[in-house]
Amino acid sequence: MARRHFIGGNWKMNTDLATARTLATALAAQWTEGSSSVDVVLFVPFPYLESVARMIASSALALGAQDLSSEANGALTGEVSAEMLTDLGVTWVLVGHSERRHRIGESDALVAEKLAMALESGLSVVLCVGENLEQREAGHAHEVVARQLHSALAQIAREDLDRVVIAYEPIWAIGTGIAATAVDAAEAHREIRACLASRYDSELASGIRIVYGGSLVPGNAKTIFASLGVDGGLVGGASLKVHDFLSICSAAMIGVSAG
Ligand code: 13P
Repeated sequence: MARRHFIGGNWKMNTDLATARTLATALAAQWTEGSSSVDVVLFVPFPYLESVARMIASSALALGAQDLSSEANGALTGEVSAEMLTDLGVTWVLVGHSERRHRIGESDALVAEKLAMALESGLSVVLCVGENLEQREAGHAHEVVARQLHSALAQIAREDLDRVVIAYEPIWAIGTGIAATAVDAAEAHREIRACLASRYDSELASGIRIVYGGSLVPGNAKTIFASLGVDGGLVGGASLKVHDFLSICSAAMIGVSAG
């Protein structure tokens, strides 16, 4: 089954208001070439969502948030609800990023609740999974990723998966400058598809988009995106540089992928 490529730029807790506006304006003006074949989403810090929404309003870029509350509303100081995000024009959200799992302490159960809340609220989701170095070296990478997937998807109906992209982000590759090889990425994506085929069915598994994240740069993007079953990427550091991010987006224009 053919799949459209997807690129997310995850700004994390970076930029200030002026930088966020400059970055969004430049990307909105320059991302025209491949907009018909690649979905590009900017995952912007909460305080800058409204400004960036205005900057990219009539462009081919979509607006994403980096997190959401698992609750709809209520006495939850500091939390941000799905409805607040949709009010601002947000259409995508990241769920289960490893920095939230491991640095903030989000459990598999909370990730599952957030995924359900996002989908119930009509948002599209990038669900992040990935093993750390210790788990990989112990030979447990596939098992860890399978557990994260099964737990997050336990209550999710097949039809809601239309609005889910899976991001395979091995923790050892995030912000380290050491990206997975194209072979490693292809293997992990194959395992994820096998896991989805066993949980749902092979049609769903071959239709869903699985993207790679971890030290993607213009120099490695084309090779990684060309590997079987890799449908684009989730970009951290390089998404803060207009030229680098656009060059990664262009590398994803190699066409829709199959396999
Ligand atoms: P880097 O591209 O900086 O390694 O970050 C990847 C990431 O965590 C994207 O969500």
